[in-house]
Amino acid sequence: MTHLFAPLTLRGVTLPNRIAVSPMCQYSGENGHVSDWHLIHYGARAAGGAGLILTEATAVTPQGRISPKDLGIWDDAHIEPLARIVRFIDQQGSVAGIQLAHAGRKASVAAPHENRPGTLGETEGGWPVVAPSAIPFDGGCALPCALSQEGIDDIIAAFVQAARRALLAGFRIAEVHAAHGYLLHQFLSPLSNQRTDRYGGSFENRTRLLRDIVSAVREVWPEHLPLFVRISATDWADGGWDLAQSLELVHGLKSLGVDLIDCSSGGNLASAKIPLGSGYQTAFSDKIRRETGLATGTVGMITSPAQADHIVRSGQADLVLLGRELLRDPHWPLRAARELGHLTPWPAQYTRAAPANTPAHLPATPYGTF
Ligand SMILES: Cc1cc2nc3c(=O)[nH]c(=O)nc-3n(C[C@H](O)[C@H](O)[C@H](O)COP(=O)(O)O)c2cc1C
Repeated sequence: MTHLFAPLTLRGVTLPNRIAVSPMCQYSGENGHVSDWHLIHYGARAAGGAGLILTEATAVTPQGRISPKDLGIWDDAHIEPLARIVRFIDQQGSVAGIQLAHAGRKASVAAPHENRPGTLGETEGGWPVVAPSAIPFDGGCALPCALSQEGIDDIIAAFVQAARRALLAGFRIAEVHAAHGYLLHQFLSPLSNQRTDRYGGSFENRTRLLRDIVSAVREVWPEHLPLFVRISATDWADGGWDLAQSLELVHGLKSLGVDLIDCSSGGNLASAKIPLGSGYQTAFSDKIRRETGLATGTVGMITSPAQADHIVRSGQADLVLLGRELLRDPHWPLRAARELGHLTPWPAQYTRAAPANTPAHLPATPYGTF
C-alpha cells in the first residue's frame, strides 16, 4: 500500500517520499535575489529529509512581488544564485521545485513581521498594483489598475520567461501559483474579476488567463518534468470561486498537461470566514483527486506523522505539503520516518546520530572518527 515514505513518480521525476515543503515567503531577498538565508533555510529542510522543496512565491515581474523583499526570476541574473540552492537540494537526495507567482492587487506590501498593513506608497519602496478589475483587496489597500490586453500578454510572456530561467537554474518541478488571492486567483473569482472582455464574466473567460499561462509554460517546460498548479479550492464566500468551479477547472488543466493540483483555499477576501482546524483543506484534495483522476497535494494544519501517513494511505492526496510545522522542525521528515518505522537516508554527516542501519545520502566524509 502507498504510504508517506513511498516514492512518487511524476513524468520523469521521482520524489523519494511524499513530504513537500510548502511554499513560504521568507521576505529575505534583495531585488529578487536569494540571500544566504535562503541557502540555509531550504538547505536545512532538504537535509531534514523532505522529498520536495518548493520555493516561496517567486515573482515573474518586479511588480508581481508581494513585498520588496520577495524572490524574483524576471532577470537572467537571478538564475545562478538559485542554481546554487538547487544543487545543494539535489545533493541531499531531495527535489527542487519553484513556485512562479504574480501578486496582482495584493502586491507592494511590507513583510508581515514589519507590521505595516496596507499597500506601500512609492516613497516607502512600493509600486502601482494591477488586477483584473479596479477592486482593492480591502480598505487599507491601493486601488489596482485593471490590466489591459497588452498588460495581460506581458504577464503571460513573463511566466514563460520565468519557467525558462527556472529550467536553467536546475529546478525539476514548476508550480504556477493560482491560489491565495494573488493575480491568477483574482482572475478566477467573480468577486475580484468583473471584466467584460474575454478574461471576465463566464467561467470560460475567468479561467482563460490561467489556462493560457499553463499552456504557454507547458510549451517551454520539458515533457519529462512535472508541472503543478496551486489553487484555492474555494473563496469561502457566497458568490465567489468554489469547489464545483475548481473541479471543472482541474479537468481542463489536466488536458493541458498539469501533473498535480496543490489544493489550498481562501486568500482572495479579507472578510472570508475560514473554518481552520487540523487538516481543514484535505477534503478538497480528496474530492479533486477522486473526481478528476489527477494527482493532488494537500496542505493546511497537518502536523503529525500518523496524520500525514493516513492521508496518503487513504488516497486523499499523493503528496503532503507542510508549512509551519517544517518551520518549527526542519527534521520533521527524519523524525516521521522513525516514528512510522521506515529507514530513510540521513545526511552522511549525521549518520552517527541516526537509527541503526540508516543509509546515508552522501559518501562518508574523510574526517575520521573522534
Ligand atoms: C511564512 C509563510 C509564508 C507563506 N508563503 C507562501 C507562498 O509564498 N506561497 C504559497 O502558496 N503559500 C504560502 N504560504 C502558505 C503555506 O504554503 C501553507 O499553505 C499554509 O501555511 C498552510 O499550511 P501549514 O498549516 O502547514 O502552515 C505561506 C505561509 C507561511 C506561514
